Amino acid sequence: MEELRKKEHLTVLAIESSCDETACAIVRDGRTVLSNVIATQIEIHRRFGGVVPEIASRNHTLAIENVVREAMEKAGVDRGGIDAVAVTYGAGLLGALLVGVNFAKSLAYSWNKPLYAVSHVKGHIAANYIDSTLEPPYLCLLASGGHTAIVKTEDYNVVSLIAQSRDDAVGEAFDKVARVLGLPYPGGPEIQRIAREGKAVFEMPIPKSSGLDDLYFSYSGLKTFVINLVHKMEQKGEIIPACDIAASFQKAAVAQLVEAMKLVSKKTGIKKIAIAGGVGANEELRARMDELEKDGCEVHYPKLVYCTDNAAMIGAAAYFGIMGGQEPADMTLDAKATVALK
Ligand code: KG4
Ligand code: ZN
Repeated sequence: MEELRKKEHLTVLAIESSCDETACAIVRDGRTVLSNVIATQIEIHRRFGGVVPEIASRNHTLAIENVVREAMEKAGVDRGGIDAVAVTYGAGLLGALLVGVNFAKSLAYSWNKPLYAVSHVKGHIAANYIDSTLEPPYLCLLASGGHTAIVKTEDYNVVSLIAQSRDDAVGEAFDKVARVLGLPYPGGPEIQRIAREGKAVFEMPIPKSSGLDDLYFSYSGLKTFVINLVHKMEQKGEIIPACDIAASFQKAAVAQLVEAMKLVSKKTGIKKIAIAGGVGANEELRARMDELEKDGCEVHYPKLVYCTDNAAMIGAAAYFGIMGGQEPADMTLDAKATVALK
C-alpha cells in the first residue's frame, strides 16, 4: 500500500470489540485522535460479577452501527475522509471479536478501503503514541486483564518479550480480589477507591526473581493468599477490614511490577519506559513508577481513557503498521482468541 504511505495525512477508522466495550475511533497520523467513542457494557455484566461472553457479543451487535456513526459524526469525516479501516482481530472473546471483524470487513468492502488487522496488545502499547512524541526503542510494561509482561519495543512494529506472567494476569488478580471483598466488576478501580481509605498493614507474598534470566510475574499466589485471608476471617466471624486488605493487595501487586521494571531497566540500560493496559490507570502504579525518574528514567503513561479498552489505540497501532509496510487483510480475515505477544 505504497500510495497510503505517501499521503500527507493518513486517517484511520478503527474498531475494537474484544471484550465488553464496543468502540470506534478516527485517528490521524497515529497520534491525533479526531474522535473516540466507547459504548461500555460494564453495567450489563456487573450483575454477573464479570463478563459473560455471549451477552457481550449480542450487545456489540446492538451497539456497533451507532458507535461507528457517532465516531464519524464527532470527527466530522465521511467515508471520503477515511483512508483505511482497522480492527482488533485478537486476542479476546471470540464471539465479541467477530462482531467488530465482520463490521470492519463490510465497511472496507463497501467503501473500497484497505482493511488492517491489529493485535489488541499492540494496540495497548500504541496508546502511548497518542498526543505524545514517544519513539522506540523503549521498555513497555503491559498490565491488563489478560496480560502481564515487560516487552522491549525495538521499533514501531518489532516487539520482543522480556518477561511475562506464569499464571494470572495482574488485572485478573485485581478483579478476583475485588470479588472476594464484595466489590463490583471491574475490580481494579474499586480496589483503588477503597485502598485510599486503608493502610497496607497486611504482609503479602511478592515473588522474587534473581535476575533477568529468570524474571517472571506471578499473581496466583497473591490472589490465593487474599482469598484465604478473607475466608479465615469470615470463619472466625471477624469484620473484614476490606480497605486495609485492598491497600495491602494493591501495594504488593504494584510492587511486583515496579521492581521488575527497575531490574529490566538497570540490566538493559534502557531508560525510556512506557506503561500500557487497564492496570496502567492505577494511581499507586503511576506514583511508584515515577520513582524510576530518580534513576534517570523517562516514564510515559497514556491518558486514562487510552489505558482501558478503546479503539483510538487500535487506530494508532494501525497507522504505524501501515507505515512499517504491513499488508492489508483480505475478506478471509478471522478473529483469534489468542495472539502471540511478539
Ligand atoms: O486493558 P483492559 O481494559 O482490558 C484487557 O485487555 O484486559 O484491562 C482491564 C483490567 C481489568 O482487570 C480492570 O480491573 C483493570 O484493568 N483496571 C484497573 C484499573 N482500571 C482498570 N486495575 C487497577 N487499577 C485501576 N485503576
Ligand atoms: Zn485490553
